[in-house]
Amino acid sequence: ETLPPYVIVLFGATGDLARRKLFPGLLRLWNAGLLPEVRVIGSGRHSPGTDEEFRAGIGLDGEKGWEEFASRLTFVPSNADDGSDLARAVREAEDGLGDGARRLVYLSVPPGAMLGMVRMLGDSGIADNSRLVLEKPFGTDLESARELHAGLQEVYRERDIFRIDHFLGKESVQNILALRFANGLFEPVWNRQNVCYVQIDVPEEIGIEGRASFMESTGTFRDMISTHLFQILGFVALEPPVHVTPEQLHEEKEKVFRSVRPLDPSRVVFGQYDGYRDEDGVDDASTVETFVALEAFVDNWRWHGVPFLLRTGKAMGATRRTVTIGFAEPAMRMFDGGAEHGPPSELVLELTDDPTIELDVRAKVPGPSLRIGRGRMRLDLAESFPDDEPLEAYERLLLDVMRGDPTLFTSTNEVERLWELCDPVLADPPPSQTYARGSFGPAEALELPGPRGWRVG
Ligand code: BG6
Repeated sequence: ETLPPYVIVLFGATGDLARRKLFPGLLRLWNAGLLPEVRVIGSGRHSPGTDEEFRAGIGLDGEKGWEEFASRLTFVPSNADDGSDLARAVREAEDGLGDGARRLVYLSVPPGAMLGMVRMLGDSGIADNSRLVLEKPFGTDLESARELHAGLQEVYRERDIFRIDHFLGKESVQNILALRFANGLFEPVWNRQNVCYVQIDVPEEIGIEGRASFMESTGTFRDMISTHLFQILGFVALEPPVHVTPEQLHEEKEKVFRSVRPLDPSRVVFGQYDGYRDEDGVDDASTVETFVALEAFVDNWRWHGVPFLLRTGKAMGATRRTVTIGFAEPAMRMFDGGAEHGPPSELVLELTDDPTIELDVRAKVPGPSLRIGRGRMRLDLAESFPDDEPLEAYERLLLDVMRGDPTLFTSTNEVERLWELCDPVLADPPPSQTYARGSFGPAEALELPGPRGWRVG
């Protein structure tokens, strides 16, 4: 497919996300020949200096293709009150790209700054002929999300708005759909009769890594639970769509979110890692949560009664993105002891950049007696498809925006429904309990799944 040339306007161009994901992602797409001709205009309140200094600050000097790509990068300061210089720069860049050029505006800014920026895009004309990408969180609660939505609608058509939840861009998250719907094997057991629990577990070893002000204003519940973890839950739990179209996927996912029972406050645990308050930029009496674990239920015909356990946090004992589906016990115990008393069969999806899918099953241990142990079947995607290069989540999503494909983005309805679910917890949050760095969270969270515990940890 040929994409038209693009002027990419990136707000937050000197921020963490731009440096860690967006620029490296654009460069890799460029090197892979997947990008059309582009001009990238970084913007923000504070100029990082000359264009050369801006480019150097991105930290990709010496990387393959960087010099060629970087020559397409400039920085133009702007703010919510005045976008006139930026608008001029966009028009000039567009003229340089010739007929048919399009605009992609990427807002990697805090939720409080978004609405003002959107108005500026409308007033300055930058929004014309553009697609808009928003970074989560989309608002900070239902009310502000609605307000943002209303403001967006004044400037953009819904089909030109792309709300990024980058977990949906992960190859391995899309693999949940492939596994379920491209095989006849799993879907018949994908229900309450055969599944006794689901764990969606995203522990991270990193602390806040210079993102103190983001963490202090957002917290882990808004950053990860109301977005990434619930989106994964949506993919695991949704009903088969008739076709894999964006409309139908969004509709099915939304139906799942509508079926989620209001969260039981006694089954939500907030934690804060020991030493968080001493981090630079953190209030020394901060109660912000750097960890959340909770139990959710999807009250529909398929899932009624099956606990979905969600957990994520910073400064934990491992970095994983693990979805575990625990299957029902066999009708009878026919063998003696051993593994039969341990965890049941589990399907385990590792949603990392090197995705694997494992099925842990009970099997006979080799030797003279009929003893049952736990064995593992393993699918390694990189090994199965050695000639196919995976795309990192942001690469895939940036490309999808340019293609105009909204499948892997989140819809307003989904976002609003998730706030509806999350608002009561945020309005009256449980006290954050301290947990040791390198642990798997406070004791109460470890107990959440019952005696079986968490698979990871
Ligand atoms: C981001 C969160 O959206 O996702 C971060 O803001 C988190 O706090 C990150 O660390 C995890 O993403 P990934 O791609 O490393 O799984």
